[in-house]
Amino acid sequence: MHAHRSLVIQTLRPVAELAGRQGGGYGLVSDTILETHGLTKEFLGFLAVQNVNLSVQRGSIHGLIGPNGAGKTTCFNLLTKFLIPTRGKITFDGRDITSMKPAEVARLGLVRSFQISAVFPHLSVLENVRVALQRARGRSFDFWRSDSVLKQYDERARELLEDVSLTEYSAMQAGQLPYGRKRALEIATTLALDPVMMLLDEPTAGMANEDVDHIVTLIRRVSKGRTVLLVEHNLKVVEGLCDCITVLARGEVLAEGDYASVSRNPDVQAAYLGTDPAAVGVPESALHV
Ligand SMILES: Nc1ncnc2c1ncn2[C@@H]1O[C@H](COP(=O)(O)OP(=O)(O)OP(=O)(O)O)[C@@H](O)[C@H]1O
Ligand SMILES: [Mg+2]
Repeated sequence: MHAHRSLVIQTLRPVAELAGRQGGGYGLVSDTILETHGLTKEFLGFLAVQNVNLSVQRGSIHGLIGPNGAGKTTCFNLLTKFLIPTRGKITFDGRDITSMKPAEVARLGLVRSFQISAVFPHLSVLENVRVALQRARGRSFDFWRSDSVLKQYDERARELLEDVSLTEYSAMQAGQLPYGRKRALEIATTLALDPVMMLLDEPTAGMANEDVDHIVTLIRRVSKGRTVLLVEHNLKVVEGLCDCITVLARGEVLAEGDYASVSRNPDVQAAYLGTDPAAVGVPESALHV
């Protein structure tokens, strides 16, 4: 496995696209926003994540893929501080965040998508986003808000709903939303925190094809000006969205690069075929580009 670490192929977006994304224009930017060194998580002697060195470029959509049990979610939880690493170091935007708490890293702009359970089912779609905005600005217990402040939240909430194409659902109770739209609402409440970097764990899980297409468009749209780390089983989604992909298998990095290179990699193919492709939602055809 170690030999394949040398397969690291950096993929950089075309300059114009990158500049557009970042609203800057500094030419070819190769700027790492999130980095891990030797990241390791042991559960009672079992290495779920082993010595992972991850480097995510600012402004990119980075995919984290791998067969079931590869350590993707554990990695994700380590990055967002929901788990404490056994060993290793995590740097975000130049800061060592290894021993920070989830709320602290969220304040720095590294935000994971909320789980659906965090959506209040009896509140309307608009109210859910407004509550997220209030929370983000630390005013949840400010009962003396002026009308103008409330109006600002409303305006911003409507913008966010527009961004995730939920405008027509604004007045609906969140609990009544179709599944795919709930994920969109979840993304809107995440965007309320104005993240520098968003982490999404299987945003298309359990979705019908048309919803998948919708969420792909949505992720592409909301990724403008930010960095996204995406854990995803659906390789079509990964292919369509990701600039760079890290493949994990048995807790270790197996390969890294753009979709074409990792999907051609025999070790990646073997790792996927070693499990039942249907079980990981991988169409056979997706493995052969
Ligand atoms: N809290 C825990 N205690 C013990 N073992 C764990 C724990 N969490 C995860 N594991 C184990 O670590 C390994 C990696 O799990 P993880 O959930 O990170 O995989 P994954 O890549 O997200 O898989 P999937 O594609 O199924 O979501 C698995 O073998 C899992 O059983
Ligand atoms: Mg997982």
